[in-house]
Amino acid sequence: MIVLKTAEEIEIMRRAGRIAAMTLDMVGESIEAGMTTAQIDMLVEDFIRSHGAIPAFKNYQGYPASACVSIDDEVVHGIPGRRVIHEGEIVSVDVGTIVDKFYGDSARTYAIGPISADKKRLMDTTQKSLQAAIDKARKGNRLGQISAAVQQIAEREGFGVVRQLVGHGIGRKMHEEPQVPNFGSAHDGPELEVGMVLAIEPMINLGTYDVKTMPDGWTIVTADGRPSAHFEHTVAITEDGPEILTVA
Ligand code: MF3
Ligand code: CO
Repeated sequence: MIVLKTAEEIEIMRRAGRIAAMTLDMVGESIEAGMTTAQIDMLVEDFIRSHGAIPAFKNYQGYPASACVSIDDEVVHGIPGRRVIHEGEIVSVDVGTIVDKFYGDSARTYAIGPISADKKRLMDTTQKSLQAAIDKARKGNRLGQISAAVQQIAEREGFGVVRQLVGHGIGRKMHEEPQVPNFGSAHDGPELEVGMVLAIEPMINLGTYDVKTMPDGWTIVTADGRPSAHFEHTVAITEDGPEILTVA
């Protein structure tokens, strides 16, 4: 069952989303070569709490941190720790917030200093695929139009669209129905309605779409070891079209 949100509930989700976006802005200003992924996590947790929100990921199904920090071939769910960030790497940071029981969820991939042309094209294409997907988040469209928009933009660059992880509905729970795949037919899925709120999150690989889980039980990496990018926004479907809630 897809839970529709009232205008009042979307107003609360705007607050959660705004704090998530401000957190990622802060990460963008702070992240640099020489930092550890645990330092990023500390900055994220302090920032979220000092803005009156709760870090949504902390202890979620046993997840031990407030941010996911995923470097290069790590796709998502990288657990922060002693790993040092280096120049030339791309680092995906995913954060979640809770405000008045409602969730916000957003992710961005950051370039650390100069990066290869391939990584740059991967990041740009992933961001572009998210924007194209958001533009399909309109009442009367099918959910599959969101999925197909991502897939088309990623695959025409020759990139792999991750199949094993998907976006999701979001509200009083971080993961609600429907699932939001980044691949599939534009004719599939439920019709979009005003009041739906979706976390749209393309995970795009430079090489194969195939991924595997590391022995820590969380970190997802590409099967071929090539880099991956991830951008995510929480988006409400309104009478006037898509509204990105995760903006500062
Ligand atoms: N954006 C991710 C998701 O929607 C974040 C979950 S990380 C977890 O699945 F640690 F909280 F699980
Ligand atoms: Co998400």
